[in-house]
Amino acid sequence: MKKILKVLAWAIASLLLVILFAGLYIYLSDIPSYQVEVVDVQLDRSPAEVERGKKLATMLCASCHMDKETGKLTGKRMLDVPTEFGEIYSQNITQDKTNGIGSWTDGEIVFLLRTGIKKDGQYSPPYMAKLPKMADADINAIVAFLRSDDPIVVANSKANTPSKPSLLTKFLCRVAFKPFEMPIDPIPRPDTSNLIELGRYLAHNLDCFSCHSVDFKSNDYLEPTQSVGYFAGGNKILDEKGRIKIAPNLTPDKETGIGTWTQVDFIQAVKYGIKKGEQALTYPMMPYTQLTDKETGAIFTYLQTISPVHNLVERSIYN
Ligand code: HEC
Ligand code: HEC
Repeated sequence: MKKILKVLAWAIASLLLVILFAGLYIYLSDIPSYQVEVVDVQLDRSPAEVERGKKLATMLCASCHMDKETGKLTGKRMLDVPTEFGEIYSQNITQDKTNGIGSWTDGEIVFLLRTGIKKDGQYSPPYMAKLPKMADADINAIVAFLRSDDPIVVANSKANTPSKPSLLTKFLCRVAFKPFEMPIDPIPRPDTSNLIELGRYLAHNLDCFSCHSVDFKSNDYLEPTQSVGYFAGGNKILDEKGRIKIAPNLTPDKETGIGTWTQVDFIQAVKYGIKKGEQALTYPMMPYTQLTDKETGAIFTYLQTISPVHNLVERSIYN
């Protein structure tokens, strides 16, 4: 009996040692790197495309990269990333050649936005947005904007603070978070005369589904409709002060979703943060003033076609 106990004790001790070394290995090693593919990009730098890129970047990049100190996309400390992921800083993406992305090729930027792999091969964890399903022309428009003479992207030499990802983040980057594949087939822009198609495209590519489904962790970024609790709300999101806000249910359920809302109610809420008889919507639900009424209405039209889910989400209001 004593002998068995002794053997068992040794077995447990060796197991603990293995776990300790595995932890140490992950801690000391960095986030994994991957092969960078050369992507050939033909930018259309016409004013209309730059303008479209600006609209998309304002909605999709500025919330994380806009720096109040410089008034440009020079990056900042991301206070809304849960601290267990580490101390995270978005980076300078102005045209500065040393501290910004002035020395990146158009293809390197597109490859990062599609896959999450940076120009040096390192993977960028989910706290940096990815656009695996966006139309090719829309991604290119964002890059054309980043290359334009718009004041928020002109070269600014503000130095970057590198992110300090936690052990948990490094571990997850080895076992769970993986880069997306570069799309093989061309992705066209949606047919704007088909409101449901336009609405679905915007609801997926402006990341509405990502916040408004049940949890970031169970979202399916390649097939958004397959996300657990698709648009049913409940996702706990941190605000700028690290307080939890819960994303509302946007399915057409009449009691707990937006089944009784009119299109006008929806446009008011999404574009201006206004809710009839209630306190205005606040961070992280930013007003989408850049969207046209047609585009916002199209998102509403699309949301009316998805399955209603009964999921009561209490509204969290802070002053
Ligand atoms: C949710 C926040 C968030 C959003 C939205 C976001 N980014 Fe980022 N971005 C980051 C963070 C954080 C990093 C640093 C990542 C790291 O440390 O690995 C980063 C890094 C980058 C880099 C790499 C810079 C470098 O020098 O390594 C580029 C380029 C970039 N972002 C472009 C964009 C563009 C373009 C958009 C809009 C389409 C965008 N980002 C949207 C948070 C964000
Ligand atoms: C960064 C996460 C995030 C993104 C992205 C986001 N939302 Fe929200 N949204 C929220 C949160 C959190 C609230 C609740 C805000 C509050 O109560 O002040 C909200 C509130 C709303 C509401 C009000 C619903 C209600 O019942 O009060 C609507 C409508 C809405 N969002 C639509 C959208 C649409 C459409 C998009 C995409 C264009 C979008 N949201 C993108 C997080 C997000």
